[in-house]
Amino acid sequence: MADLNDMAWWQRTIACEVYPKSFLDMAGQGTGTIAGITAKLDYLQKLGIGAMWITPCYKSPMVDNGYDVQDYYAIDPSFGTMADMDELIACGKKRGIRIVMDLVFNHTSEECSWFVESKTSRDNSKADWYIWRDAREDGSAPTNWRSIFGGSAWEWCEERGQYYLHTFAKQQPDLNWECPEVRKALFDIANWWADKGVGGFRIDAITYIKKPPVFEDGPADGEDGLYPVHAATANTPGILDFLHEFKTAVRDGRDIFMVGEANGVAAEELDKWVGENGVFDMLFEFSHTHVPMGAAEIWCRPVTWKLTDLKRALAASQAATVSNGWYPAFFENHDQPRSTVNFFRCEGPLAEKAKVLGVVLLTTRGTPFIYQGEELGYGNAEWKSIDEFDDVQTKAQFDFAKGEGLSDAEALAACVRFSRDNARTPMQWDASEAAGFSTAKPWLPVHDDYVTCNVAAQEADPDSVLAWYRSLAKLRLGNDVFLAGDWHELMADDEQVMAFERTLGDVRAVTLANFSDEPVTYDADLVEGLELLAGSMGDATTGELRPLEAVVWG
Ligand code: GLC
Repeated sequence: MADLNDMAWWQRTIACEVYPKSFLDMAGQGTGTIAGITAKLDYLQKLGIGAMWITPCYKSPMVDNGYDVQDYYAIDPSFGTMADMDELIACGKKRGIRIVMDLVFNHTSEECSWFVESKTSRDNSKADWYIWRDAREDGSAPTNWRSIFGGSAWEWCEERGQYYLHTFAKQQPDLNWECPEVRKALFDIANWWADKGVGGFRIDAITYIKKPPVFEDGPADGEDGLYPVHAATANTPGILDFLHEFKTAVRDGRDIFMVGEANGVAAEELDKWVGENGVFDMLFEFSHTHVPMGAAEIWCRPVTWKLTDLKRALAASQAATVSNGWYPAFFENHDQPRSTVNFFRCEGPLAEKAKVLGVVLLTTRGTPFIYQGEELGYGNAEWKSIDEFDDVQTKAQFDFAKGEGLSDAEALAACVRFSRDNARTPMQWDASEAAGFSTAKPWLPVHDDYVTCNVAAQEADPDSVLAWYRSLAKLRLGNDVFLAGDWHELMADDEQVMAFERTLGDVRAVTLANFSDEPVTYDADLVEGLELLAGSMGDATTGELRPLEAVVWG
C-alpha cells in the first residue's frame, strides 16, 4: 500500500497532453500558439490538471510537426516567442500546473546546425554526431531496414558520399549517442529547460537511441523487401547505461519527473526502466494500444481482438509497476486515433463510450494523462481523401498499404481508421466558425461534429462528457483511495466488463465499465456495502450494467 505522504506531486495529480498546433490560435494564422495555451489554463485547472505535457514547440521546419527540431533553445515563430513560453511556465505554476517539455533526443531535423555541419565531410567537428555508413558495393543502402514511417531507413547524402540512418522521416537523421559530445549537448539542453522551472520531461522515441554494434539485414516482412528498423534497433542492450547517465546528469536532485516514450519495452522489463533502480519515473509503453491496432509494422493488416486482450495488457502494466515505479495511464495521445473508436468493437454513442473510458482512466492506479479533446468524446474525423491528411506518417502509410496490395479505397480506409491526424484536428471550443480555434482557416479540417460537440456546449450540459470528466477528476483528487490505493482486477475473464477495485486501508472502491452494447449482470456482492460514487447514466442498479454504462462504487 502506498503512503500518500510519500508520493511525489506528479503521482498525486492528473496530467494532460496538449498538441499546441491544434489547441488555440491567438494569432489568427490557422495554427495554435503558446499564448493560446496560457489563455486556457483555467479550463485545464477545472479539469484537475497539475502537469501539462506539450508536444515540441522548438524551432522546426515542421516536417513532423515539431518532432524534427532545428534549435532546442528557440521557440518556433509559429508558436510565439521564448517570452510566451516563460509566461506559460509562470502562469501555469501560479495555477498549480507544471509544464512538461517534450525532449526529442533520438534525432534532430536535417536543418539542425549539427547535421548541417556533420554532412559536409567525414572529418568536421560534428562528423560523428549522426549515424553515417558507406554504401554497399552496388551503391545500395547499408541494410534493408524500413523506417517507422515507411521506405528505407537510410538516405544517401551526396555531399558526404555516405548514407545516414533515420528511424523516422528522412528529414529526421538519428543522433549518434555513442559520441560523448552528443550526449553532453543533449543533457545541457535538458538542464537548460529544467532550470527554467518546468515540471518534467517526456522523452521521445527513447528506445531507439542505442544502435546495435553490427548493422545487418533482417528478414523482409513486407512486399517492399524491408525489415522494420524497430526490430533491428529498439531496446538494444547497453541503452540503459546511456539513460542512467542522462538521469544522473539531469533528473537527480530535481523535483521533476521524466516519462519516457518507450515503444518496445515489455511489461516484464519495466522494473529496469522505472522506479528506484530504473531510469525514468514513468514509461509510456504501448502494450494496450497495440491490442486494437496490432503491434506489427504491417499496420494495415486487419487485427482481431477481444476485450480480455486489452484487459490483460493493462493488468500486466499495473502488475509490473506495483512494486517498482509508477504507471502513466492513457488511452489517447497525438499519435493514436481517437479512443472512442479505437477501443470499442460495438456500435453506440461516442459520448457513452468516452464516459466508459473516462472512468477507467480517472479511477485507475497511476497518473492519468488526458489528451486534448478526449474529455469531450470526439470520434475520428471524416476524412474523404488522402489529400486531406497532413501527417508525414499517414501519407507514407498510404503508399505502404498500396505496396502491400491494398486498393486506393482500402488504403484510405486504413488511414481513416488509424491516422494520427485523427487526434490532431483542432480543439473544439465553441460552435462558431472553425470551432473557436482560429479566426483563419485551420491547418487541418475541424471535425464535422464541432457544432454540437464543443467545450461551450458541454459546459452548459450537466450530462456531457466534459461534466463527467470534471466530476471524476474531483472524485479522484478528493479520495486518497484513487491516488494511493492498491489496484486489483475483478472479473478478469469477462469479455464485456472491465472491472477493478482500489483499496487503501479499509477503504474500498470498485469501478465497473461495460464496453459492450448489451446489458450485463455481475455479482452484486462485489459492491456490497458500497455507495454509488459516480454513474455515467445518473442512477445505477447493483449487479447490473446497461449497455456502455460505467459506475464507481465506494
Ligand atoms: C514519437 C512522437 C511522434 C513522432 C516520432 C518521431 O513517436 O510521439 O509524434 O512522429 O516520435 O519523433
